Amino acid sequence: MGRLYRGATVVDPVTGEHMIQDILVEGQVIADLGVHLPTSTHEVIEVSGLHVLPGLIDPHVHLREPGQTHKETIETGTMAAAAGGFTQICCMPNTSPIVDTTELVLSIRSQADHFGYATVHPIAAITKGAKGEELTDFAALHQAGAVGFSDDGRGVQSAQMMRQALIRAKQLGVPIIVHAEDETLSGAGCMNAGAVAERLGVDGIVSSAETVMIARDVILAQETGAHVHMCHVSPKAAVEVIRTAKANGVQVTAEVTPHHLLLTDEIVERLLAQAKVNPPLRSESDRQACIRGLFDGTLDMIATDHAPHTEEEKGRGLIRGPFGFVGLELSFPLMYTAFVKSGIIPLAKLVYHMSTAPAAHFHLQGGRIAVGELADFTVVDLSQQRRVNPATFRSKGRNTPFVDSVLYGWPVLTIHQGRTVFINEVTVD
Ligand code: DOR
Repeated sequence: MGRLYRGATVVDPVTGEHMIQDILVEGQVIADLGVHLPTSTHEVIEVSGLHVLPGLIDPHVHLREPGQTHKETIETGTMAAAAGGFTQICCMPNTSPIVDTTELVLSIRSQADHFGYATVHPIAAITKGAKGEELTDFAALHQAGAVGFSDDGRGVQSAQMMRQALIRAKQLGVPIIVHAEDETLSGAGCMNAGAVAERLGVDGIVSSAETVMIARDVILAQETGAHVHMCHVSPKAAVEVIRTAKANGVQVTAEVTPHHLLLTDEIVERLLAQAKVNPPLRSESDRQACIRGLFDGTLDMIATDHAPHTEEEKGRGLIRGPFGFVGLELSFPLMYTAFVKSGIIPLAKLVYHMSTAPAAHFHLQGGRIAVGELADFTVVDLSQQRRVNPATFRSKGRNTPFVDSVLYGWPVLTIHQGRTVFINEVTVD
């Protein structure tokens, strides 16, 4: 006996089609897909009026385990993923200790599998301890399941070290995932450099701190033929560098976050540390450039950079509080409300950037609903309207600048490898 999800609008991000179909799940896979499938002995789940998307994939999440479990754990982070409609996430290695051994890669994967809320693909560190001094054992880490390499949270300051990393990553066919930050330029800044930082009397982070390293790594990727992936792109100039690099055939991909698409540094004046993130929220012209970059394909995918911190830590203020926002539970409704409900892009394009593109560029299964594929999908209620209330989050983190935003398009049911891992009782019968 299987489970038949009946009457939903199934979105295909590749063809752009939306079709009312039934989905039959048997075990972990989609066994059949079609209009009015026979119900026979199957358990029927009525999902008419709702939309079914391929499981969302987030290429950039901080799970904080091991070592910072007061901020998040593998269990709470993957529960948050499921609640946000994500069935696969890639997690960053800036835990304590840093993920630079095969034991840690294997342990994260097996813990995530044990809880079963979402598949977790670890990203291992480029350098031991993320100190920028000595490369990790890429081949062994990849063999253990690392899907890419990054020192995210810090930029690799040495061009020579980055060049060597790219050469090794190319041999394995995996991306180097770049946190672009030249520390000689970013210094002790706590927000974007500009008029708001001046008004607040705090040190700013210039855009070039990011763009200089993106330009450097594009050049190194061109020379080595490696795949370089740029994290959380924020300045206009960086979008332009990536656009030119793509036009020149460099194997570069890039992600952009909901917060860089929706907010500017103006909000820091009101929210202070609650609006502190790295790279920082930038100007309106940077924000517009990120939106254009996403729409024209310069920026390939949307990533949350889910970075949970405690209220006490964020309460230390703009200068001393940590950088970062939680994102898993809000990303889809934020993007849907801003860009699809408003009629700017079709739903299928948003789903492409939140599922199909990360699957393709990180060499993961998924990104499409089809017979024989793993049953990873998300049912969303596009008409459901809710106000953001961090007290409802599964994540331990409450740190978001989007408190009280009224959003549409909430996930109501998440299916991971055939199992129901999230259900929002409000809507599903
Ligand atoms: O805002 C951020 N928070 N940016 C990063 O690069 C790291 C992250 C974190 O780990 O908190």
